[in-house]
Amino acid sequence: MSSISSGRPTFGLFGASPYNEKPMDKGTTKERFVIEGLGGKKTLKGELFIRGAKNAALKALAASILFEDEVRLENMPQIEDVERMSEILRSSGARIDRTDDVVAIVPPKKWKPELERSIASRIRASIVLTGPMLADMGEVKFPFPGGCVLGERPIDLFLMGFAAMGASTQEDADGNFTVRAPRGGTLRGARIFFPKVSVTATETLMLAAVLAEGETVLENAAMEPEIPALAAFLNECGARIEGAGATTVHIRGTAGKPLRAEGRTMRMPPDRIDAGSFIILGALAGKDLAIRGCEPKHLGSLLSALSRAGVPLEVGRDFVRVAAGDVPNEKFKSISIQTHEYPGFPTDLQALYAVLLTQTSGEATILETIFDGRFRYADDLVRMGADITVMNPHKILIRGPKRLSRKELEAPDLRAGLAYILAAAVADGTSIVDNAYVIDRGYEDIEARLGRVGLSIRREPAA
Ligand code: EPZ
Repeated sequence: MSSISSGRPTFGLFGASPYNEKPMDKGTTKERFVIEGLGGKKTLKGELFIRGAKNAALKALAASILFEDEVRLENMPQIEDVERMSEILRSSGARIDRTDDVVAIVPPKKWKPELERSIASRIRASIVLTGPMLADMGEVKFPFPGGCVLGERPIDLFLMGFAAMGASTQEDADGNFTVRAPRGGTLRGARIFFPKVSVTATETLMLAAVLAEGETVLENAAMEPEIPALAAFLNECGARIEGAGATTVHIRGTAGKPLRAEGRTMRMPPDRIDAGSFIILGALAGKDLAIRGCEPKHLGSLLSALSRAGVPLEVGRDFVRVAAGDVPNEKFKSISIQTHEYPGFPTDLQALYAVLLTQTSGEATILETIFDGRFRYADDLVRMGADITVMNPHKILIRGPKRLSRKELEAPDLRAGLAYILAAAVADGTSIVDNAYVIDRGYEDIEARLGRVGLSIRREPAA
C-alpha cells in the first residue's frame, strides 16, 4: 500500500527558500489524549455546543489592523491559534484583552510592521496579517507561514496580488519576505484574478484593498461563509466591500483612512468544521447526539452525503440531531465524495469522513482536489485495521466495514488529529493520540465536550 510522503519542495518563490510548512516541533507534543474505544457500540448522547469559527476569528484579529480605535470580537473560541495570532499582534504593538468569549484589541498609534517570526512561521493564518499591515503601514516583514502540513502551500497568490497593487517584494537569506507599498505608502486598487481559489489570499487582499487608493476587483475569489461575515462588519465600520461570498468582490478603498469600530462588535459565525466533525462522530458512535448552535446551511455538502448514506438526521434552524443509535454502522452505505471549495465538501472534513467510510458498507473513494498531501492519516488508520488504498496523492479508496483496534497515534495535523480521536472512539480497546497541541489549535476544550456526551477521553502528559 503506497503512502504519501509530504514531499519537501526544494525551492520557494525566490531561490532556495523551502516553502514547505514546518510541522509542529516535536517539542510541543507535551500532552496526549487517552481514549477508551466503544468497540462499535453507539452510546454517545446529549448535546455538543458549537464554538465561534476559528477561520473567522483569526481573520477578524488580522482585520483589527485596519482600525484606529478599539475592536471588540465576540464568540471567539478559546483555542491555541487565537492565542498565537493575538501574540503576533501584541508583538507588533496591540493591546489585547479577553473576557470570556470577547476579545478586545486596541491598536497602537503606529504598528511595528514586522510579524514575530517564531510564531508566524508556525501558523498559516499569520499570512492574513500581511495585507492589512502592508495597507496600514506601507510595508510588512514576515516569514513564510507555517501550520498544518497538507502538502504544498505556496504564497504566490498573495505576492501576485500585492504586486498588482503596486507593492514590491524582497526575500532575504533567512527566508523572510519584506513587501513595500509604492512610494507614499498607499496601495493602488487593482483588478486581481486568482488562478486558484484561495481562502486566505482572498481575505488578505480584500483587507489590503480596504485602505487602498481606488477600486480593487477580486475575481475567482473564495466564497467561504466566514468571508462575507467579516466584510459585513468592516462595512459597518467604514469599508466599502461588495460581493463578498461570491466569486467577484469589489472593494472601494478609503485611500489610507483607517476604519473606526466606535463600540461595534463582530460576533463570530459558528464553526462549521467543529459542527461537521461532531455530526460525523454522531453518525459513528452516537445513540442520540444534538449538535447545537451551528449553521446547518453551511453544511449542505456533508449533510447530503450523510443522508445518502442513510444516516438519520434531524436538521433544525440552528442544530443537527443524529439519532443513529439503533442503526449499526454497517447498515450505512459508503458514499464517495470529492472535496471542493465552498459550498462543496470541505477539505477540512475529509479525514473525519474517511473514518466513517471505514465503518460503512461497500467501497467509496475520497478525491481531495484542494491539497496534495492531505492523506497522511491513511497509514495510521490502516494500522488500526482499516482497508484503505492510496490510489494517488489526490485519491483514496476505502472498503468497509472493518473493525478498528486500539493504537498509539500521533496527530499529524489539526483535522487528522480529531479524525484519530473519532477512530479511537469506534475502535476496540484503549488508544492514545499524541500531540494534543495540534488538536487544541482548532478545537476548544475537546476532552470536556466529548466527555460530556459519554466518551471516555482524558488528557495526560505525553510519555
Ligand atoms: C484555508 O487555508 C483554511 N485555513 C484551511 O483550514 C482550509 O483547509 C483551506 O482554506 C481550504 O478550505 C484558514 O483559513 C486559516 P487555500 P488556506 O489558500 O487559505 C493553493 C483548518 O484545518 N495556494 O484556500 O491556506 C494551496 O496550496 C485549515 O482549519 C496556492 O497555490 O488554503 C491549496 O492547494 C487547514 N498559492 C489551494 O490553493 C497561494 O498563494 C487552496 O488553499 C495560496 C494557496
